Parts: sequence; structure tokens; C-alpha cells
Amino acid sequence: MPTAVSLFSGCGGSDAGLIKAGFSVLMANDVLPYARDVYLANHDLTDYQLCDVAQIRSFPAADLLVGCYPCQGFSQGGVREPGRGINRLYLEFARALRTIKPKAFVVENVSGMVRANYKHLLKNQLAAFRRAGYNVSCNVLSAADHGVAQERRRIFIVGTRKDLDFKYEFPQPTHGLDAPLPYVTIRDAIGDMPVWPEGEFYGRDFHWYYLSRDRRRGWDELSKTIVANARHMPLHPSSPALVKLEHNVWRFVDDSPARRFSYREAARLQGFGDLVFPDAKRGSLDMRYTVVGNAVPPPLFHAVVSGLLPIF
Ligand SMILES: C[S@@+](CC[C@H](N)C(=O)[O-])C[C@H]1O[C@@H](n2cnc3c(N)ncnc32)[C@H](O)[C@@H]1O
Repeated sequence: MPTAVSLFSGCGGSDAGLIKAGFSVLMANDVLPYARDVYLANHDLTDYQLCDVAQIRSFPAADLLVGCYPCQGFSQGGVREPGRGINRLYLEFARALRTIKPKAFVVENVSGMVRANYKHLLKNQLAAFRRAGYNVSCNVLSAADHGVAQERRRIFIVGTRKDLDFKYEFPQPTHGLDAPLPYVTIRDAIGDMPVWPEGEFYGRDFHWYYLSRDRRRGWDELSKTIVANARHMPLHPSSPALVKLEHNVWRFVDDSPARRFSYREAARLQGFGDLVFPDAKRGSLDMRYTVVGNAVPPPLFHAVVSGLLPIF
């Protein structure tokens, strides 16, 4: 069984994809206690270290290193400051890479990283990974093309150790208009779930910012992006449609009940299946949405790592 070390592991979206591809995840790490709780409730064999990655002094030997360092510096929803310290966490990833020297590595991040004003940061990351001895390629992939019922585009950086002389190919779409299978829709993902799961969705008002854009998609469409902030979670399709009044101003077509996706629906729309959420004190509603929205859709990560399997 090939082995992996996972950094910035969150509640285990990337790692669920790894495990499905046949990897044993030896070590995972994050600073968020509830992310660890959810991870271990779903995958209890991993040694999960709850600490700042900078404090980790030794890593187990492994075939693969994966890491999805935080993206607040680049994401649409985050504060876009290319100089923020958080954008330097890739250096911790590069330190682990130099120490473990795995056969391959995979990084996921928000696609905003390819925007012109962040390109230098992407260039720095690729250069650090090449200096560590890896052939590196990157690509923006769409989760919907790999069977996830959601519009979510993410950048993947994949590296293989130079001595292996392996040419990695990014996966071709399996779902969509020109692919063998149709897109997975909201109905496919959550159609069997209760329509009004009291206590499991964020029920505060739809404030002006929420109503500054269309947040609803129909049952037979892809969901809008599942985000980490509960307030910005897209609408459940049983909610009334939104109509545009003017630039950045939308309103519901009628007064029938409207609600955001629940955190369990959000997990399904991320491609998790039925994720177990332990009832720890720190597992507030907001925190449940956060760990799910931060995650990499497992089917997308599975598709990316599957192309590496020949070298293990
Ligand atoms: C994009 S999320 C990763 C999601 C995860 N790979 C998944 O699929 O569920 C980034 C994670 O990095 C964690 N993080 C942020 N700063 C960190 C640090 N200094 N050390 C360790 N983890 C950190 C955050 O708590 C967050 O869970």
C-alpha cells in the first residue's frame, strides 16, 4: 500500500480521495481542533498532529506528500493581499518536501493564484519545488468535470521526483457535455435528504451583501461554490428564485421559505457522501460549515492522485 503524509489536512477532503485511491495516510496535520475531530471520526488510523505546521520537527518517510495550504490571500472571499504571511506557508510545505523526499507531491489551492497580481507567488512556489528536486506541472481543474455537483475551480500543482523520470498527466473530464458521463446535479447529490433539516442550516437573515448576487441554482443544475463562511452558503433549490433589480441588488420572487444549504448537504455537494460530524463542544454550526467549505472535494483529489499511481 503506498503511503502519504498530509499537511493542512482540515477535515480530510483531500485525504478521503487519497484513501479511496489506496493510500495509507501516515500523518495529517492542522491547527483547527474541530477539523481534527471530524477527520478522526471518519478516518481513525491516521496520526493527526494538531499544531502549527512550523512546529513539526520530524515527518515519517512516505511515498507521497500532499498539502493544501490556506488560500485567504488569493480567494474571492478572502482578503486579497499578496504579501500576507499566510501566503508563505508554502515554505513549510517545501521544508517537508526536502525532508521526506517523497516520490511525488500534490498541492491544491484556489484558482485565484493564477491571477496576474499573484503570479509571482505561484512562480516562487514552483521554483521552490523545482529546487527541491521535482519536475513540476500545474493546472486549473473543475470539480464538476470529475463528478462533483458543484462549480468549483481549483489549481493543482503536481511534482514527481526528477530521478523517476515520470511524466504526470492531469486527468481528463469524466463528467460534462463532452465527457462520457453527465454532470452530477444537486438533485443527484442531495435529492433524498430532508427538505427542512431544522438546526442544521444557518438561519440568519439574508443581508444586503448576500443579496448582491444570485445565490440559487435549480435541482437539475450544479451548485454554486460551497464556501467556508456559513453566511455566504448558497441557497437550497427549494428556496424561491432570485431576480436582479439592479447592479449588485437581487431579491426573492416571493415570500415562500428560503434557506441556505445545511452543512450535511454542503458535505454531499463537496462529494463527501455522508460525513460523520462528532458532537464535540467545539463543533458549532459555523465550524461545521467551515471545515466542509475548506475541504478539497474527495472525488477531485482522487482523480488527480490516480494519475500518479504507476510510480508507487
Ligand atoms: C484549504 S484548507 C485544507 C483542506 C483540507 N486539505 C481538506 O481537504 O479538508 C487549509 C487548512 O490549513 C489549516 N492551517 C492554516 N494555517 C496552518 C498552520 N500554520 N499550520 C497547520 N495548518 C494550518 C487551516 O486550519 C485549514 O484547515
